[in-house]
Amino acid sequence: MALFKIAVLEGDGIGPEVVSAALKVLYRIGELAGHHFETEKGLIGGSAIDEKGTPLPEETIKLCLEADAVLLGAVGGPKWDHLPTEERPERGLLGIRKALDLYANLRPAKVYEPLIEASPLKREVVRGTDMVVVRELTGDVYYGEPRGIFTQDGKRVGINTMRYTEDEIRRVVRKAFQIANLRRKKLTSVDKSNVLEVSALWRQIVEEESKNFPEVELEHLYVDNCAMQIVRRPSSFDVIVTGNIFGDILSDEAAVITGSLGMLPSASLGDRYALYEPVHGSAPDIAGKGVANPIATILSVALMLRYSFGLIREADLLERAVEVTLEKGYRTPDIYTEGTIKVGTEGMTQAVIQTLEELW
Ligand code: NAI
Ligand code: MG
Repeated sequence: MALFKIAVLEGDGIGPEVVSAALKVLYRIGELAGHHFETEKGLIGGSAIDEKGTPLPEETIKLCLEADAVLLGAVGGPKWDHLPTEERPERGLLGIRKALDLYANLRPAKVYEPLIEASPLKREVVRGTDMVVVRELTGDVYYGEPRGIFTQDGKRVGINTMRYTEDEIRRVVRKAFQIANLRRKKLTSVDKSNVLEVSALWRQIVEEESKNFPEVELEHLYVDNCAMQIVRRPSSFDVIVTGNIFGDILSDEAAVITGSLGMLPSASLGDRYALYEPVHGSAPDIAGKGVANPIATILSVALMLRYSFGLIREADLLERAVEVTLEKGYRTPDIYTEGTIKVGTEGMTQAVIQTLEELW
């Protein structure tokens, strides 16, 4: 019986509700598959500020460093909006990503047939869309030096520097090839190498790494063209890999064509550690009402099973169970349409567990 240790950071707002829902599903998988998932809770975000005076207490970092994976809810809310930037709940998120040296952000964007009407695109265009955007998290124009607002000849000039080292590119590109290998074996690398030297280096490294993954089909796209192709032919993408700023934009673009924030999971991977969390925030407007959609967090658990624990069959079954539960007609209010079955967080969780048992 395999033992997996998970640090659980519920955070604020609906964070505790969706995390406890996802853990119920995880424990059931443990029983069905004969694995032991050991969980321990830590404080992060606003609730950590209230109890410990800081959004990321030392003991939370220690807990995460000793775990095999981290599951996070969401942080923030109006209660802490008055605080200065450096003291806000979101600092906890940045801090934990840094402490765990996470450099690859995975954002799957999948269109579920029962929810196809929620997409802003025509159904013939989005049908079958199932892609993952892999965004580099630690470098690029967000961190490059020099940066700042300077004065030159009496006029102000704003400067940021797009910068990537060979090693920073290689590790995220390699991760993306590995992910493509576990999926449909197609990788799209996105850059702007027609104008940017940093992109020319990016493309060179991608070409070098592709020699280690001959079974993965590789295409290069310029970022402006990629932005168009995502709305034109979304179902043709499998894995997209790109730098921090292009990835920031493309991951949101890919997400919005699926139509539902409550359905989107994410993973942030490093060499040693990994963190899994829904894309949505703490949703203060619905917190405590028992209506939050737990699927984004349940699907984040599926990513954890696949990428941290290598439990591919369990991950596939869980994703399939979510799909079948939607086919059966279960909907939380955020994805409800007439003629479907309206349930709350607990109802959706139980429906997924029930489906999982049927599929097992
Ligand atoms: P949000 O994602 O929390 O909510 C946006 C809208 O989507 C709201 O109407 C909310 O009710 C709905 N929604 C979100 N998740 C849902 C779910 N699982 N089920 C049903 N409906 C859901 O974004 P917003 O309102 O911009 O931010 C609220 C707070 O969350 C802020 O304090 C913000 O800083 C924080 N935030 C935290 C993030 C994180 O922890 N990673 C990410 C984004 C925002
Ligand atoms: Mg963004």
